[in-house]
Amino acid sequence: MGEKLSFGVDWYPEQWDESRWERDVERMREHGVRVVRLMEFAWALLEPAPERFDFSLFNRAIDLLGSRSIRVILGTPTATFPAWLLDQGEAALQVTQAGRVRDFGTRRMACFNSPAYRAASARIVEACAEHFANDQRVIGWQVDNELGHEGSDRCFCDNCRAAWHLWLERRYGSVEAMNELWGSVFWGTTFARFDQVPVPLAQISSTFNPSLLLDYDRFMSDSAVSFAERQIDILRAHIRPECFITTNLFPPPLSISIDMERLTRKMDFASWDNYPVWGDQDEPYPYQFQSYVESYIRGLHGSEPFTVMEEFSGVQGHVCLGHLPPERQVALWTSQAIARGANRILYFRWRTVPYGQEQLCYGLFDTDDAETERSRVLKENMRTAYEAFASFASTPFESEACLVYSKDDARVLREQYLSEGLFLRAAEWIQAGYDMEMAKWFAPYVVFNVNADVKSVESVDLDRYRVLSLPLYQMADPAFVDRLDSWVRRGGTLVLGYRSGTRDMRNWNVSDLLPGLFAEMAGLRVRRFEALNKGRVGIRVGPVPAKGEVWADIIEPTTAKPVAFYRDRAKFYSGRPCATVNGHGKGRVWYLGTSPDPIGIFFLYRRILKEAGMKPRFLGDGVEMVERRTALGSRIRVVLNHSPRARRAMGRRIPAYGWTVVE
Ligand code: GAL
Repeated sequence: MGEKLSFGVDWYPEQWDESRWERDVERMREHGVRVVRLMEFAWALLEPAPERFDFSLFNRAIDLLGSRSIRVILGTPTATFPAWLLDQGEAALQVTQAGRVRDFGTRRMACFNSPAYRAASARIVEACAEHFANDQRVIGWQVDNELGHEGSDRCFCDNCRAAWHLWLERRYGSVEAMNELWGSVFWGTTFARFDQVPVPLAQISSTFNPSLLLDYDRFMSDSAVSFAERQIDILRAHIRPECFITTNLFPPPLSISIDMERLTRKMDFASWDNYPVWGDQDEPYPYQFQSYVESYIRGLHGSEPFTVMEEFSGVQGHVCLGHLPPERQVALWTSQAIARGANRILYFRWRTVPYGQEQLCYGLFDTDDAETERSRVLKENMRTAYEAFASFASTPFESEACLVYSKDDARVLREQYLSEGLFLRAAEWIQAGYDMEMAKWFAPYVVFNVNADVKSVESVDLDRYRVLSLPLYQMADPAFVDRLDSWVRRGGTLVLGYRSGTRDMRNWNVSDLLPGLFAEMAGLRVRRFEALNKGRVGIRVGPVPAKGEVWADIIEPTTAKPVAFYRDRAKFYSGRPCATVNGHGKGRVWYLGTSPDPIGIFFLYRRILKEAGMKPRFLGDGVEMVERRTALGSRIRVVLNHSPRARRAMGRRIPAYGWTVVE
C-alpha cells in the first residue's frame, strides 16, 4: 500500500479563503508532504440539506493536491452532524452518565444507537464512497474521527435504553438466565422483564451490580463497533481494493468502553493521534508511556505498521494551554513513533485557524504564514528520518516479550478499582488507572531496551514470545490459563500480578483459594491482602530497598521461592514475601504481589529478563533503543535520546532530543 514511509499533514481547506490554497499546496510539497487528510468534519458542507450533496470544494482541493502528486486520505464526516438532522425531530444527541445532553455545536455528540443518526451517517458515507470511488488520488479512508473520545464512548439516552434491552435479550435469551449470571438475587434486584433493566445513570450513592455495569460497557462497545462496521461495509462496496480503511484512535487505550481490537478488526490497520502533551499538562507524558501506547496501537492489528493520523506539531488545547516542548523533542516523537511501528505520519495541523473551538491548536504554521521554528525543524526531520528509517518502517516489528491485557478486566477495574492506586481521573470522562498500571508494567521493557508488544488475552500468540507480563488478570479464562500452563511448561516465563485469578469469567469471586487457577503454576497461596490506596509499603528486592504501591498480597509460598520481601515496621506482615518465582516444567512463573515502584520493578524485571535468557541493557537516563529488521533482512538499532542533554550510547554521541541508527 504505497510508500514504505510517508509524511503528511491534516488540512482543512474549507476553513480558508481559496486564494490561499495554491500557495499552501506548493509549500506542502516543498516541506516533504506526500499525503493529506481531509474532510472529517465537513458533513454540513457535503450535504447542506438532506440528500442534497455537494462535493465541489473537496473536488477542487483534491485536484490541486493531485497536481502536486500529493495523495489524500478522506475522513468520513460523521464526528459531527449537520444542524438539519436536529430539525427532523428524532433524538440523535447523546446523554451522559450524569444525565446531561451533549448539545449540537460541540462534536462527538451523536448517539451510536440513534436510528436517525445511523441512517443519515450511512447515507453520507455512501454518497462520499460513490463519489470518490474511482479517484486514484484517494489512497485511503479514515472512519469517523476518534470514535469514543471525549466521553462519547458511553451514552445513556432512550435510544440506548431500547437497544440495551434488545442486546440483553440476544445475549441471555431469558431474563432468568441473566438474573442467574448477574446474581440479581443480591439486594433483591431480580428482574421480571428485560425492559426493567436500567441504564446505569450516575447515582448519589450505592452502585449497580458489577455484572450489569460490565455488560453495559460491552453493549456500548458493540454499539460503536457496529456503527463503524456499517461504514466499513459501505466503503468496501464502492472503493478500489487497494484503498485502505482505518480510523484514528487516541490515548489512553484501555480506559474507555470500546474494544479497539474489535473496532479495527475489519479495517486494514489502526491509526493513532499522538499528543504527548495537550491542554494544561505541565510536562509531556514520559517517553515510556508513549512507547506503551504505540505498542498497543501496533498490536491491534497483528504487527502491521500503523499510521499516526495526527502528530503533535504546535501546542494544543481547547481552553487552556500548557508546557511548550522544544522543537527537537517534537521531532523526536515522530522518530519514536516510526521506531515503534508507524510508517506514515501526518502533522496536526497545517496552519493554526484564527477562529472556532480550536483557535488554540497551533499547527506547523501560524496565521501570518511566516516560517516557524517548528515547521523548519519538522521539515528537516522529515528529510533525515526518511533517509534513515524508510528501510525498516514497513517491515514487521519483532519482539520476544509481550504485555498482555484483558479488556473485560479493564472495564471491571475502571468502576470497581479496588485501591485508590488504580484510580486516576485523567479527565471528567476518563478513569485511567488500569492504563497507568499497564504502562508501569511495560516500562521496564523500554528502560531495558527489550522489544516488546502489547496484546490482548484474546489475540496474543503465546508461541511468539519468551516472556509475558500479565498484570491485573482478575477474570481468568480457564482455556487461556491452560494454554499459559503448557506454554510455561515448554519454557516460557510468565510474570503474573496481584489479583490474578481472583474472578471467574462471570466476574464472580472464585471459590478456590487465591490465586485461583494460577495457584499451582505460581506455587503459592494468598489469604490476606491490603489495598494500599495512595500509600506505599517498604519492600526489599535483594539488597535494594524500594516501595510497594497499590496493593499488598501477603504471599504464602507452597513451592515458590521468595525473591522480594515486605520490609516495613508499620506493617504486621513485614518480613513476608511480596514477590516469588516458581519453576514450572521448563519455565517459570514470577508473581508480584504488589505494584513495585520504579526502582523495585526495574530490579525485579532485570532479574526476570536475565533468567529468561534475554539481554536487558540500560543505556542511560532517557535513552531508548528499538531493534528493527530492514526489508533486506539486516538488523539495525534505532537509538533515541529523550533527555535535554547529549548522551553517549552504543558508541555514539547522541545530541539532546536526537536519534541515531546503528547498523
Ligand atoms: C484531536 C482531534 C482533532 C483535534 C486535535 C486538537 O484529538 O482528532 O480533531 O481536535 O485533537 O489537538
